Amino acid sequence: LREYPSWGTGEMREPAWNARRSDGSLAGDLLYHSHQILSGPEAAAMRPQGLPWVHPTGDDGGFHTLQIDCRDPAGGVQISLFYSVVEGVPVLLRWCRLVNSGSEPLEVRALASASVDLPAAVDYPRDVLTLNGAWARERHAARGPLVPGLHALESRGGASGHQHAPFIAVLDHETTENHGQARALSLIYSGNHRHSVEVDQYGVARMQAGIGPAGFSWNLEPGASLDTPAAVLTWSADGLNGVSANLHTFVRQALLPPRWRHRDRPIVVNSWEAHYFDVNQDNVVALAREGAAIGAELLVVDDGWFSGRNDDRSSLGDWVPDTGKFPRGLAPVAREVEQLGLQFGLWVEPEMVSPDSDLYRSHPEWAIAAPGRRATEARNQLVLDLGNPAVQEHLFTVLTKLLEDAPIRYFKWDMNRNITEPATGETMHRYILGLYALLDRLTRAFPDLLIEGCAGGGGRFDYGMLAWTPQFWTSDQTDGIARLPIQHGSSILFPPETMGAHVSAVPNHILGRTTAAATRAVVALCFNFGYELDLAKESDADRAVYRRFSGLYRELRSMLRTGRFLRLRSTEGVYSWMVLAEGGGQAVVCRVQTQGQPNAAPATVRLTGLDRQRRYAVTQVNPQAGGADDHVAMVCAGAALMDLGIPVAATRGDYSAQLWLVTSHQNAETKGTP
Ligand code: DGJ
Repeated sequence: LREYPSWGTGEMREPAWNARRSDGSLAGDLLYHSHQILSGPEAAAMRPQGLPWVHPTGDDGGFHTLQIDCRDPAGGVQISLFYSVVEGVPVLLRWCRLVNSGSEPLEVRALASASVDLPAAVDYPRDVLTLNGAWARERHAARGPLVPGLHALESRGGASGHQHAPFIAVLDHETTENHGQARALSLIYSGNHRHSVEVDQYGVARMQAGIGPAGFSWNLEPGASLDTPAAVLTWSADGLNGVSANLHTFVRQALLPPRWRHRDRPIVVNSWEAHYFDVNQDNVVALAREGAAIGAELLVVDDGWFSGRNDDRSSLGDWVPDTGKFPRGLAPVAREVEQLGLQFGLWVEPEMVSPDSDLYRSHPEWAIAAPGRRATEARNQLVLDLGNPAVQEHLFTVLTKLLEDAPIRYFKWDMNRNITEPATGETMHRYILGLYALLDRLTRAFPDLLIEGCAGGGGRFDYGMLAWTPQFWTSDQTDGIARLPIQHGSSILFPPETMGAHVSAVPNHILGRTTAAATRAVVALCFNFGYELDLAKESDADRAVYRRFSGLYRELRSMLRTGRFLRLRSTEGVYSWMVLAEGGGQAVVCRVQTQGQPNAAPATVRLTGLDRQRRYAVTQVNPQAGGADDHVAMVCAGAALMDLGIPVAATRGDYSAQLWLVTSHQNAETKGTP
């Protein structure tokens, strides 16, 4: 077992790093030199420079870091390995720093944040679990046997990406949601990443995570250093839900901006699927009015509001309101929205520029391009080089002006294409460092601004972004059924209050599928709840359902933000999940069945995490009836709800959803035992 393996030392498996001197010779071999243990503020201050890091709460008293310094005996390279723990947060943070201690430049081509060798477990076969997909179907969980050889996932487009979430887990083959061993590794980083596991000839499984090596190279002058992003590692013997509990605790107690850790999130109504590029001051105010009537709390003007932007072919970079659509600017509209009782939010895509824009015409050199090559356009846009301090400065000025000119309480910060034609091997990482610097500066200047990250949906939903954007638009997929596997997979990594989930119109704009309003609302309820549709076109009956769910969400959201998210069942055709309040006295349970079953045996939903002895009342919610038809379906012991489950009444048709509220019921008669 190796702690930070070097190549060329008799070690034939995946190395953790790769660097070469200017004469072409490989740096290699690392020997222990010294170590120290830091605690409190001293530990918290020892962090990867310019990269996302945890904010332990309080005086950092419960923060400890082990630093191990290693050296190449041939000289010229020092690597420090860092291991940090936050008391009460069941994860280990790892990162490292490479120092060029020689007198010649050094080129770093790979530097893993963490490498972990899991001892061989010959009698206990293992599985590997990853989260994969594409636009509109992000983070579907894929699990398969861990076989000898290398299994690696990379992103190469400059962001963590739609295709592979920065995450890898190794589970015992028998591990389920609630039982068995699981180990997970995830990079706190938003750029190109690589997560891998390699099984060697003896069954040792080496898990690694780091900046993606594709095209990466970093020049270090003598005396200079390179820090890796941190990686988070966790282990649980309580199955995948155990791993999620650890990771969710980490996000909630250490990663999210402290300002937002304990704040409930507003119910958003977003203009995108209502009006697309055709937003204007009248339809925005009308949408806010409709939103107020169904209990929304924040109106977001999505794409289309800025100068000349009528489709996706122009104007990114020209962040001034379009005078035809908003003749009075944004401020009076924002105030009107506020008078209706909603906050005002705005979509921006600051990292991009359209070739057809005033910004590009005045600063073509700000777009990422490789000299002598054609810059590939995607969605008709180019990427600004955020590694350039002048670009960062410009964006900070432009965004500050927007925030100072109108009472904007929320940004949806979008990013809609990959980076191509990077000028050097450093471009992509410098870009991400620039993005973090900009986000850091902006959130310091506007600490109460709520930023929801977005990247063509969930294309950059990672722990790096969550350090500044306390919520992320999970996916452009708003169809209630296609959302199920996305939310299921995302929930392994992310607590529900970080995952944007909106009710949209039917037939769904992407899939053309029609589902009931209640189904769409049940699917979204436990997450960062909101709406994304032209409410004026909805029927009175559906609007009543939305009003009911806004009310339910308001009642439940503090509990959802602090409670424990538990995946219950996710077989083909049935998804169920619950959130259990701290203390275990209350729970919300959701179940969605994608297809009706003819003449089927009665189904049940088995809960988890309840107190076996305690009695609970289970209320079945009937959203159609505005609460009037809710009824206590049963009162029974936690043991019965976990061992036998809540019986599910047969429903007609496809896409049915059920919602139950479970409350501890100390004095009730036990009845309705299933
Ligand atoms: C992609 C986002 O994911 C959508 O929600 C929307 O904001 C569009 N961009 C706007 O162009």
